[in-house]
Amino acid sequence: MRDADPMQLRWLAAQAVAREAGALARRRFSDASFEVGFKGPHDYLTEVDGETEELIAARLHAAFPRDGFIGEETAGRPAPDGGAVWVVDPIDGTANFARGIPHFCVSIACVLEGAIEVGVIYDPVCDELFAARRGGGAFLNGAPIKTSDATSLANSSVEVGWNLRAGASKYIDLLRRVALWGASPFRTGSGALGVAYVAAGRRDGYVEHHINAWDCLAAILLVKEAGGYVSDFLAGEGLTKGNPLIACAPGLKEALVSAVEIPGIVL
Ligand code: IPD
Ligand code: CA
Ligand code: CA
Repeated sequence: MRDADPMQLRWLAAQAVAREAGALARRRFSDASFEVGFKGPHDYLTEVDGETEELIAARLHAAFPRDGFIGEETAGRPAPDGGAVWVVDPIDGTANFARGIPHFCVSIACVLEGAIEVGVIYDPVCDELFAARRGGGAFLNGAPIKTSDATSLANSSVEVGWNLRAGASKYIDLLRRVALWGASPFRTGSGALGVAYVAAGRRDGYVEHHINAWDCLAAILLVKEAGGYVSDFLAGEGLTKGNPLIACAPGLKEALVSAVEIPGIVL
């Protein structure tokens, strides 16, 4: 019998772990019994973020003990032999979660030698599992997905991600540009789901001045595998320090990149 493909095992494991972690987050969300704190202004942290990340880290470590781990909430662990690294956001959309808004998800990606091999996002409220494998396509609850066929910003919908890291004036400029070019701007508070929705053709684009790897790596693979365009997020120190991000339907690439003029992202 042939040995199982190790990355296929990781793809399957990521989906099972995302579902289990999402069920935990959904249970705690329904109870609404958790403490809410802040890491900084507008930067919510609940005890469920830590609990969920611990569960994910434990499951992945038990199955793949030599893999590295980068999570939003806990100290990272490099892969001892330069092998696969898991990149995890236990709850993306924490501000929504903390305020009782049912729009958040678990995001799990696996990177090997500079390539995103596996990307899984689970929205436990809608029971939607987005999963992509490099070269193997992108799926929503098992059915293939693809980006929209938009070719012009007019009539398109673009999520403009917000955080305090990039500053208010840069955000206003980005929003202004998106709106001036005729797109309808959105902000829903979960970057991971925002980019996954581009993969599913529910939105035409997503832009943000700075986003971290745990927020977007899984969704980036989804968009690529769904046929879309994504800026080179892993350039430089993107994996550890984050980068700007543009993700969109393939027909919008030129229009969106030149409309928003984000430094460092060129055609
Ligand atoms: C944030 C959300 C938000 C995005 C920020 C992220 P968190 O993550 O994804 O939509 O704009 O860049 O930091 O705090 O909800 O995990
Ligand atoms: Ca996040
Ligand atoms: Ca988070």
